[in-house]
Amino acid sequence: MVALSDVLASNAQIQSNLPKGLIAIFAGATSGIGEVTLKTFVRYAVEPRIYIIARNQTAAERVIAECRQINAKGQYEFIYADLMLIKETDRACEQIKRKEKLVNLVVLSAGQFIFDRKPTSEGLNALLATGCYSRFRIAQQLLPLLTAAASTTPLARVVNVSSGTYEGDVVTSDMQVQNLSFTKAFSEMKPHVASIATLYLEALADQAPTVSFVHDFPGPVYSNLHKNAIGVFGLLIRVITEVIYAFLGRWLFVPIEESGERHVYFATSKNYRPRAGTAVGMALEGVNAAEGSDGLVGSGVYSINWDGEKRTEASVSALKKLRAKGVKEIVWDHVTGEFDRITAGM
Ligand SMILES: NC(=O)c1ccc[n+]([C@@H]2O[C@H](COP(=O)([O-])OP(=O)(O)OC[C@H]3O[C@@H](n4cnc5c(N)ncnc54)[C@H](OP(=O)(O)O)[C@@H]3O)[C@@H](O)[C@H]2O)c1
Repeated sequence: MVALSDVLASNAQIQSNLPKGLIAIFAGATSGIGEVTLKTFVRYAVEPRIYIIARNQTAAERVIAECRQINAKGQYEFIYADLMLIKETDRACEQIKRKEKLVNLVVLSAGQFIFDRKPTSEGLNALLATGCYSRFRIAQQLLPLLTAAASTTPLARVVNVSSGTYEGDVVTSDMQVQNLSFTKAFSEMKPHVASIATLYLEALADQAPTVSFVHDFPGPVYSNLHKNAIGVFGLLIRVITEVIYAFLGRWLFVPIEESGERHVYFATSKNYRPRAGTAVGMALEGVNAAEGSDGLVGSGVYSINWDGEKRTEASVSALKKLRAKGVKEIVWDHVTGEFDRITAGM
């Protein structure tokens, strides 16, 4: 476990260790983990330029006003996009690409519990559309800007707040997990999502070895996630989460402020350095690279638990088996195939 004191000590040096004017994209920072990570980041960063992609304009205005109070020298811009849709995701990325030549940091936390068999208007599983596909698309679309940042600045990183360390089987026969029974979907969704995210990020790292990628599981964090869960199953999640939080919250949940600090650490520490190049983040003495998702130290993609460490050997060995079976290529072909299908004729 990375001690919280080490996290705080590292974050406290961002101001003196990283350059001013870092450019960061937060997809889903109008609430929850994204919001607290954004506010923590702007507390430390010098004159950052921030783009927030989400849907709720009122919440975005509130978050931006609070960020201005924390760091008046930062620049903040809201980009409206429904990240359930790839075309909207592309439009948001285009807006950023028109304005910026490089991007230092991309934090992906947009998502909603939607348990609905009905696919999106673009034919994607509604739960995976925001939780996976649009996140993959943002990372892919902004990869040239991240690579540009890696060549001239010390930070070029993507942080995907999802289900790192829970890798396991991938449902290759039904990549969108649309046709499984309810109970099977429930048990197979988490390893499927975790694995496709890590393997997709590994494929991006192969193309951009000077950029680093963190895929974390934030632990249970009390936010709006369960409150906005949709469907009968969503109601169940709302009730169960409130009951567990009321009785066991202080022991089982990661305090949201701590989650913000830890995510800023994931976003900036040299622990999660790229496999090549000099964009290692905070070059602090005594900090060495962590073990990557392939089991090698400093290999550029990190699947980690809420505390910054990998959970067990199980995820490393599950990923090893998936790579040996060619599932990394299957994931890449599937995801890019869906993007091509959706954007054909645009
Ligand atoms: N909290 C936890 O315990 C927990 C545990 C494990 C994993 N996670 C992961 O962390 C992610 C974030 O959780 P959280 O606790 O921060 O949730 P949250 O408080 O509900 O925040 C979700 C964010 O996603 C945005 N969003 C949702 N649907 C969107 C859409 N279609 N288009 C654009 N933005 C959208 C929301 O903004 P708008 O409403 O403004 O669009 C909001 O900013 C989850 O999706 C999940 O992947 C969380």
